[in-house]
Amino acid sequence: MFKLQKKPGEDFTLIILGDPQLDYEIYGNELDSKNLVRVTVEEVMRRTTPDLIATTGDLADEYGRDLYEDIISYMDSLETPWTTVMGNHDQEGRADTPEIMRMLKNTERCIFDEGPESLGYGHFTIVIEEEGRPVSALILMDSHRRQKFINERGKEDRYVVPFTEGQIDWYRGQVEMLKEMGCPDSTLLFHIPLWEFRTAWKTALRVKYQLDGVLPWEAADFNIWNEGYEDSFGVNYEGFAFHPESVKLFDVARELGHTKNIICGHDHENCASVTYHGIRLTYCLKTGCGGYYSAKVNGCTAVTIGAEGVKDVRHEYVDLRRLWYSNRGKGDKVTI
Ligand SMILES: [Fe+2]
Repeated sequence: MFKLQKKPGEDFTLIILGDPQLDYEIYGNELDSKNLVRVTVEEVMRRTTPDLIATTGDLADEYGRDLYEDIISYMDSLETPWTTVMGNHDQEGRADTPEIMRMLKNTERCIFDEGPESLGYGHFTIVIEEEGRPVSALILMDSHRRQKFINERGKEDRYVVPFTEGQIDWYRGQVEMLKEMGCPDSTLLFHIPLWEFRTAWKTALRVKYQLDGVLPWEAADFNIWNEGYEDSFGVNYEGFAFHPESVKLFDVARELGHTKNIICGHDHENCASVTYHGIRLTYCLKTGCGGYYSAKVNGCTAVTIGAEGVKDVRHEYVDLRRLWYSNRGKGDKVTI
């Protein structure tokens, strides 16, 4: 367990990068994934002055060790404690996950622990304290790599695997320990969302809306939410990755009643946040253009922690379309 200190009388701000997934692609107008992460993060840091920075994993596309070096040294250069979970791309294909974990542990500012080897890659808890009293906690878990299979069309495909019983027991143990310490709430962070992200979205959304015309930062004000779900925000533009059995983790979280937020990534064009059975389920805003992206779903997700736990979760949007248009035709990379 790690501990970070919140200054008395001030909020503690966590910002989360959604799937930086650095790659070698140049997108359209010479925008590359590394520069767009920089531009986005530095804009969000100007607005929020974070105390902790996290990512939802998929730090880079699996084929490039140099890309991992780039993103890890960049994160460390921000002069703020940071942490990450392992995404599927950090574990698939040519990714050397033990080596990535070694790189993370060799940094100056990254908070990371492999956790019990039998559970996967990276299970640990960060407690936020104020004058020795826990005020909130971040529980980080591994949602695993995807497994290959041959689909009904004879093509190779990949499916998401569920959390194991061992992981669910580990989560239960962390929450029981936090309760004993008097910690008022916890936030769960992992890469691939739960089944309930889809259920919550379908429950909250009024069915008739043409969402292509709704910008994500307008969704909170738009009349697109059903009664009881008016505090939802963001929009999901693409499908959902999850394993049906991921429902077990949600059921345990509900039963324990301590985790108030679950934040995930993986589906880059989704950014909805919906409170479902008392737990806010938030797709972190995608950061940059790595892997694939939608220019209107870009930024970081910010979590404000006060003396009695999480006060607020919101998206800090950075409109890539402005950069895109201002860069068009100039032939210059966006740099800072
Ligand atoms: Fe992913």
